[in-house]
Amino acid sequence: MCGIVGYVGNKPASGILLDALEKLEYRGYDSAGIAFAGRDGIKVYKTCGRIKQLREIIAEESKSDSSRDGEFTVGIGHTRWATHGRPSDNNAHPHCAHSGKVAVVHNGIIENYLELRAFLEAHGHTFSSDTDSEVVSELIDYYYSGDPVSAVRRAEMQLKGSYALGILFSDYPWQIMAIRKDGPLIVGLGKDENMIASDIPALLKHTRDIFRLGERELAILTKDGVTVMDSYGERIQHEFEHIDWDIDAAEKCGYPHFMIKEIMEQPDAIMKTIGPRIHDGKIDLGLKHISEEDLKGITSIKIVGCGSAYHVGMVEKYYMRHLLGIPVDAELASEFRYDSPIIDEHTLVIIISQSGETLDTLYGLREARKRGARVISIVNVVASSIANESEDVLYTWAGPEISVATTKAYSTQLVLIQLLSLHMAYIKGTIDEKQLSASVDELMAIPKMLSDMLKKVEPIQYLASQYFNSQDVFFIGRNMDYSLSLEASLKLKEISYIHSEAYAAGELKHGSISLIEDGTLVIALCTYRPLLEKMVSNIKEVKARGAKVIAVINHDDDETENVADHVIRLPECGTLSLPSLTIVPLQLFAYYIASLKGCDIDKPRNLAKSVTVE
Ligand code: G6P
Repeated sequence: MCGIVGYVGNKPASGILLDALEKLEYRGYDSAGIAFAGRDGIKVYKTCGRIKQLREIIAEESKSDSSRDGEFTVGIGHTRWATHGRPSDNNAHPHCAHSGKVAVVHNGIIENYLELRAFLEAHGHTFSSDTDSEVVSELIDYYYSGDPVSAVRRAEMQLKGSYALGILFSDYPWQIMAIRKDGPLIVGLGKDENMIASDIPALLKHTRDIFRLGERELAILTKDGVTVMDSYGERIQHEFEHIDWDIDAAEKCGYPHFMIKEIMEQPDAIMKTIGPRIHDGKIDLGLKHISEEDLKGITSIKIVGCGSAYHVGMVEKYYMRHLLGIPVDAELASEFRYDSPIIDEHTLVIIISQSGETLDTLYGLREARKRGARVISIVNVVASSIANESEDVLYTWAGPEISVATTKAYSTQLVLIQLLSLHMAYIKGTIDEKQLSASVDELMAIPKMLSDMLKKVEPIQYLASQYFNSQDVFFIGRNMDYSLSLEASLKLKEISYIHSEAYAAGELKHGSISLIEDGTLVIALCTYRPLLEKMVSNIKEVKARGAKVIAVINHDDDETENVADHVIRLPECGTLSLPSLTIVPLQLFAYYIASLKGCDIDKPRNLAKSVTVE
C-alpha cells in the first residue's frame, strides 16, 4: 500500500528520500513522487512507474540546473498504490494545491472526497487528478491564511476515512508536517535531521530512535526538533523507542529475493517466537490484562485476520476445538466487522496481523472490543495500531518481513497461537502437565526439523522445473490439510500469477472436478491421517481424469506413493508440528516456480504488504 517518507535536515534531501522510498517498495506501488520545499517554493517530481524512473527524472533535472539538486534539504515522498484513479503521472503523489502553497502525500482513503471536491470546486478550486487525495491539498489550501497548524487541523476535521499525511507549505520551507488516522506513520529523530516514514526500514540508515504518531496527532518537524500536538492542540511528549535490529534484517544479504531469505529465516524466527516464552517446560505468555481466571471463563473463540493471517486461524481452529472442547471459528476480518458478530465477555477474539495495520483487521478488533469480547492480538510490528488497541498483545518477534508474500510471519503466527492454545488448555484442565510438557517439547523441536528440511531444497526445485508452465494448479486436502492448502495456493498464485485454487477434497466432485483435464496439476496434502483413505480416493478421482498429482505425505504409505506421480515427503512428526513443516515445501514450490517464470517475486503486481484501505 502507499508509502510515505519525509526528510528535513542539512543534507541534500533527494537521495535520502529516494533511498527511503526504495525501502518501502515492498508495500507495492505503481507510481512514485517527491516534493521539495525551497526558497523558490515547492517543486514536485512524479511519475507513473518505478522509483528508478523517478531517480532518472530528478537526476536529469539537476543536470540541466546544476545549482538545483543540492539546494533542497526538505522534502516529502510517496509510492502510490492506485485506489481512486488509474496509475498515471497526474494521479501520482505529491499533490500540490493549485495555489502552489501546499503539497501533500497521502496513504489511506478519503471516503467523503466527492463531497469535499464539489465543495472546493464551488469555491473556485480546480483539480488535476482523479484521486481522493488531491482534495486534501486543496482543502488545506482553502483553510490556509498564514497559519499552517490551523489550516491542517481545520482540513483534517473535515476528512472522513483513513489517512497518513506528509505536508509541505511553501511559506515554511524549513519544516514538514505529518498527521495520521487509521494508517501508520513513524517519526524518526536524528542529529540535525528528522524524518517521517510509513515503516521503519525507510528510516534505519539515518536514525534508530523512533516513535509512532498517535491517532490524529499532528507533528511538526524541523531539522532541530519535533513538536507533537494532540487533537485538542495540546503539546505532547512521546517516548522514543530505540530500534536495535541488525540493518541486515532489512537487507537481502546475498539472497536473490527477500522471500527466499525470509523462508530460510523461519527456523530462527520460530525459535525467537517460542523460546523466550517457555520456562521449565511451562508456557509464560506474559499477558498483562487477561488473567488465567478470565481465560478459564472463555466459552468460545473467534480468530480474525486477512489473507495468510486468516489462514493461520483456519489451521488453528481444528486444533483448538479439539484441545479446548469449545466452539472455535476463523473469520475473515472484512466479513467479521460487518457481520454483527455474536460475541460477549466470554468470547476470546484472537486478532492476527503481521503489520498490525491492516484496516479491516483493525476495525474487526474495534468491533470485538465494542461488543465486550476479550481480545488478544498476535502481531509482528511492535507498537502498531492493532497492538496498541488490543487488550493484550503477543508479539511474534519475527523481525521485519519485507517480501509481500508472507512466510516467516505466517509460521511464527502459527506457533504462537499454538502456544496460546496449549496455555489455555492447561489452565482449563483439558490437558495435564505431562501432556503440556510433551507438546512444548514438540514445538521446540520444530526449528531444528525445519532447518534440516531447508538444507534439501533440490527435490522441490526439480518439481518446480517440471510444472512452472502450468496454467492451473489445484490444491486439495481435508481438515488441517485443507487449511494449509489455502495458504499454499495463495502463495503460488500471488507470486507466480498461475491460476490456483484450494479445495476441501470432499468438495471436488461438487463442481471443480469438471476443470480437471489431461495434465492439470493437483497437489494433494495427505498428512491428516484419520482421513487418509478418503484422500487416496480423491487422488484416484483426479488421476482418472488425467491430472498429474504431487502428494505431500509424512509417513510411509505405499498406497499414496503408488497412486501419485510425485511425493513430497515430510519428516515424521506429531500433529502439533505438522502444519509448520507442511507449509514450508509449498512456500518453496511457489518461490521456485515464480523464479523460473521470472516474476517480480518480492513485489507481485497489484499486491501490497500492508493493506491500509478497505
Ligand atoms: C496482505 C499481504 C498478506 C497478508 C495480509 C494480511 O494481503 O500481502 O501477506 O497476509 O495482507 O496482512 P497482516 O499484516 O494483517 O498480516
